[in-house]
Amino acid sequence: MKILSIVGARPQFVKAAPLSKAIRRGHEEILVHTGQHYDDAMSRVFFEGLDLPEPDVNLGVGSGSHAEQTARMLVGIERLIQDHRPHCVLVYGDTNSTLAGALAASKLGLPLVHVEAGLRSFNRTMPEEINRILTDRVSTLLLCPTQTAVDNLRCEGIDSGVHLVGDVMFDAAAWAARRADSHSDVIDRLGLSRGDYLLATVHRASNTDDVANLSQIVEAFVEQDRPIVWPVHPRSRKTLAMHGLLARLEDAGHVMLIEPLGYLDFVALTMHAAFVLTDSGGVQKEACFHRTPCITLRDETEWVETVRGGWNRLVGSDKARILAALATPFAPPTKPVDGDELWDGRASERICDSLQQVLGVGPTVRKAVTKPVGLTTSDRAPITI
Ligand code: UD1
Ligand code: UDP
Repeated sequence: MKILSIVGARPQFVKAAPLSKAIRRGHEEILVHTGQHYDDAMSRVFFEGLDLPEPDVNLGVGSGSHAEQTARMLVGIERLIQDHRPHCVLVYGDTNSTLAGALAASKLGLPLVHVEAGLRSFNRTMPEEINRILTDRVSTLLLCPTQTAVDNLRCEGIDSGVHLVGDVMFDAAAWAARRADSHSDVIDRLGLSRGDYLLATVHRASNTDDVANLSQIVEAFVEQDRPIVWPVHPRSRKTLAMHGLLARLEDAGHVMLIEPLGYLDFVALTMHAAFVLTDSGGVQKEACFHRTPCITLRDETEWVETVRGGWNRLVGSDKARILAALATPFAPPTKPVDGDELWDGRASERICDSLQQVLGVGPTVRKAVTKPVGLTTSDRAPITI
């Protein structure tokens, strides 16, 4: 089977790493990079650090308004589909690259495969929520990471082609957790002590485009006395600089504003942080995978299992709530996180099985992982295999 896979933004490179390997064991893959993210630290570093094959095509669309960016991708992807005539198009997550791939494929009548289908924040002011809803609506095969995602789709009347496969980000996290301590020196490089620093990421439009929200977050960080490592997304760097907030953080002395990191460095920091503070979707989950308490700088999450499991607290961008969450230690929950039986490093294999079952032409994919990846929920033991 010939599969045209679309990636474009940082989290999609992470998700594609394990799945692309699995797909290529039994199928032909054409990997298309839309060029949505293009800085070396937002793109190249992942292809090098994750053993992800170089993209076959880079559309180089770059930044722009939602309409400009999506439209440029749409034109490029349509042309590629016509040139390569794949059996299906595969998209990841909820970015503009996802939506462009979904529209191009469905308008040309091609089967569309959505990895990370069914997630909902129920907040339609998020561009990602619009991208998810529209993509799921036109998908042929909807590959859900959680039972909640399956239930969300059912509530919208979508039950055909829905498969619960688990989370490819866990596959990537498990791979990285085995290498992070031996392949990353980031903790020493930054002069940090394990368990005694905070790791922060902020890039969501609701925080970066609203200076009042961003200021509250900054002020909460300024009031901490532990080191805070903040690999700054280029979008946030611009807003922070524009409003004098970069200088405010630099003057505080304990906030390390660094360039975005490669995946292994970021995983190493996540594994050993006292807390993760983030508005990222992927980072919330990874904190939970690695059993690091997470404080989410949003009012809702698509990953409700992490909150129910006791590893994630939603505090929005309110300074008082952020400080209160940091002052209240998380009691290590002893119960398992809902759905963690699917955190076994085999989501990519299950996705290949679903592809075969639903779209099935071509050889059966050979299994690569023979031992499931284990996790404990009662402590912060690293993921083992
Ligand atoms: C996008 C996704 C978001 C995802 C995030 C992952 C959409 C609507 N949003 O948000 O869901 O969580 O990626 O990080 O698709 N920029 C650079 N260099 C780059 C990339 C971006 O300087 O390599 C700057 C540009 O000023 C650009 C801004 O960041 O305008 C925003 O980039 P964009 O890709 O539009 O959205 P993200 O905020 O990255
Ligand atoms: N990440 C990284 N380096 C960083 C910040 C994040 O490698 O400096 C990884 C992180 O481990 C996760 C992914 O990028 O796998 C999340 O991307 P992001 O937060 O940009 O997007 P979201 O998940 O919110 O869509």
